[in-house]
Amino acid sequence: MNRRLLDVLEGIETDRPPVWLMRQAGRYMPSYQALRKHHSLWDMFHTPELAAQVTLMPVEQLGVDAAILFSDILVIVEALGLSVDFPPRITPAITTSAQVDALAPRPVQEALSYVDATIRLLRPTLQVPLIGFCGGPFTVASYCLDPEDHGSFRCTRAWMQSNALSLHMLLDKLTLVTIDYLRMQVAAGAQVIQVFDSWLSELTAEERHTFAYPYLKRIIDAVSVPVILFCRHSSLFPDELIELKPSAISFDWLRPMRELRDLTPSHIAVQGNLDPSVLKRPVEEIESTTRRLLDSMRGKQRYIVNLGHGVLPDIPFEHVRHFIQEVTT
Ligand code: CP3
Repeated sequence: MNRRLLDVLEGIETDRPPVWLMRQAGRYMPSYQALRKHHSLWDMFHTPELAAQVTLMPVEQLGVDAAILFSDILVIVEALGLSVDFPPRITPAITTSAQVDALAPRPVQEALSYVDATIRLLRPTLQVPLIGFCGGPFTVASYCLDPEDHGSFRCTRAWMQSNALSLHMLLDKLTLVTIDYLRMQVAAGAQVIQVFDSWLSELTAEERHTFAYPYLKRIIDAVSVPVILFCRHSSLFPDELIELKPSAISFDWLRPMRELRDLTPSHIAVQGNLDPSVLKRPVEEIESTTRRLLDSMRGKQRYIVNLGHGVLPDIPFEHVRHFIQEVTT
C-alpha cells in the first residue's frame, strides 16, 4: 500500500513527495477518449463501473500516488432536486428567491447513491489513497445562477449586490448537502477530500469573507479526513486560506512553490504548482522544469507535487507520463 499522500497530510516524513494531478483522468488519455466514444459524460459520471474504470486509468498508466474519484463538482445539485448535464448546464436555472426557498434537499444516499457505489467498487482494488471531492458552495452556486454564460458571473454578481439574503440561503442549502455528501464519501472509503472552490478568484476580499469563507469553514470542520483546499489564484491570498485551517492548500504557479511553503505554517501541507502549459513543451524542458521544482523543495516537509490547475485536454499523454516519471523515479 502506497501511503505517501496520507503520510504527508499527517506530517509523517516520506522518501519522496507524492504526486497526483488534478483532472488526471481526462481527454488527454487515449484510453479515456476510446471509452468516451461509446458513452455520454452523463453516463460516465452516473455509472459506477464506468466511473471506477476511468478513476483507475491514471493510477495504472501513470503510476500516480493517489486516485481521484471520477465525477464532477456539479452532480451535487441533484441532491437539491436540480438536473445537470455536460458540458456543464444546470436546469432549471435559479432566477428567483422563491425557487431557492422551494429547493428541498433529498437524502444524498438516494440522490447520489451512484457515487457511494463507485467508491465502494474502487477502494478494495486500490493500492493508493482515494481522494473524494466537492465544489465550494460559492462556485457551485455560481453555476446555478449563471448556467448559460458562466464566465460572466452576471446574475451571480446581481444576487450578491441586491439579493444577498437569498444567495445566503442557497449557499446554506448547498453547504448542508455538501457536508452530507462528503460524509457519505468518507463512509464509503474516501481517505482525503479536496474542495474545489475555483471561482473564489472572482471575488473581492470582502466578498470572499461574506459569501465563501463561512461556508468553506463549516465544510472543512465537518469532515473527519484531511481536506485539501483548491481555488484559482490561491497564491494571491494565502493568508485567508490559512485562516480556514485546511490540512493542505493547493497553489497556482504565480509564485515559487518554495516561497509558498515558507509562508504557510508548517502544520499545513502545500500542493502544486507546475504551470499546466509546461506540459505542452518538449519532453526535455518538462523534465528540467520538474527537476528544478523538486530541487527547490528538497528538504522541505509536507509537500505534494501537482499542477497549479487541471491537466489541459490537448497535452500529449507521453508528456504527462514523463512528468510523473521525473517525480517517481
Ligand atoms: O480531477 C479529476 O480528474 C476528477 C474529476 C473532476 C472533473 N471535474 C471531471 C470533469 C473534477 C475534480 C472536476 C472539478 C470541476 N468541475 C471544477 C473545479 C476545478 C476547476 O477546474 O476549476 C469545475 C469548475 C467543474 C465544472 C466543469 N465540469 C466544467 C467547467 C467543465 C467543462 C470544462 C472542462 O473542464 O472540461 C466540466 C466537465 C468535466 N468535468 C468533464 C470531466 C471529465 C468533461 C470534459 C472531459 O471530457 O474531460
